[in-house]
Amino acid sequence: MPVQERRLNIGLAELLKTETRALHSVAERSVFLAELLSGRMDRPAYCAFLRNLHAIYTVLEQSLERHAQHPMIAPIFLPALWRTCALEHDLRALHGAAWADELALQPSAATYVGRLRDLDAEQPVLLVAHAYVRYLGDLSGGQMMRRVVATSTAQDGAVAFYDFGDGLATQALTLAFRHGLGAMPMDQSRASALAAEARLAFDLHQRLFGELAAACGLTARVRARPMGGEG
Ligand code: HEM
Repeated sequence: MPVQERRLNIGLAELLKTETRALHSVAERSVFLAELLSGRMDRPAYCAFLRNLHAIYTVLEQSLERHAQHPMIAPIFLPALWRTCALEHDLRALHGAAWADELALQPSAATYVGRLRDLDAEQPVLLVAHAYVRYLGDLSGGQMMRRVVATSTAQDGAVAFYDFGDGLATQALTLAFRHGLGAMPMDQSRASALAAEARLAFDLHQRLFGELAAACGLTARVRARPMGGEG
């Protein structure tokens, strides 16, 4: 690989982080995630969250599998990251066997699934941006959520979704994913397209958090809390 291309690659992980930093801050402040991190989220709301994520991961992971040999996908093809089975485990434990029929898919999740299917068919390279947003998020902030969910009685300690093994295994996967980003054949226009797709992924998440908050009545509940009060 020419030196100039290699430099661009070393910067891809950094570029994605920089390009999505502002959107990440917005996501962190969403009502839905604030409720989740507070440890007060009830089980139906948490199951609604997992159910919608399941739809997204199913298509993402099927698509990554289909394009495993693609030179852009192969470097980040790490099945140890896959979350579909872990989500099914948690949903069965928390909601029961009929979770797929009984829990609603939000419109933004359906849009997200549609986008992933389009990429699968026409632009598999851009799946990398979605893998970045989901898996590095799960390996980073997801580990904070794991601590909250693990101690929440409403969630009954069902943390398969956040479980990548012990701290060392989690760190190793993070490094392997970042290393994979650096090993991709890259040029400027591809890097820009990946950054734009990562921003789209954050936007879709933001919409999903808004829809989930509304569906679970969270907006009203958070607003109704007394200022400075505990609950
Ligand atoms: C309450 C919610 C969240 C918290 C507290 C949180 C927290 C964090 C933290 C502490 C990091 C590590 C930052 C660093 O190493 O500099 C991180 C990284 C990341 N988060 Fe989040 N996060 C949250 C929500 C999200 C959401 C909703 C997404 C995606 C939709 C996401 C995607 C990411 C990604 C992709 C990274 C990796 C950034 C990089 O190093 O390139 N996070 N998050």
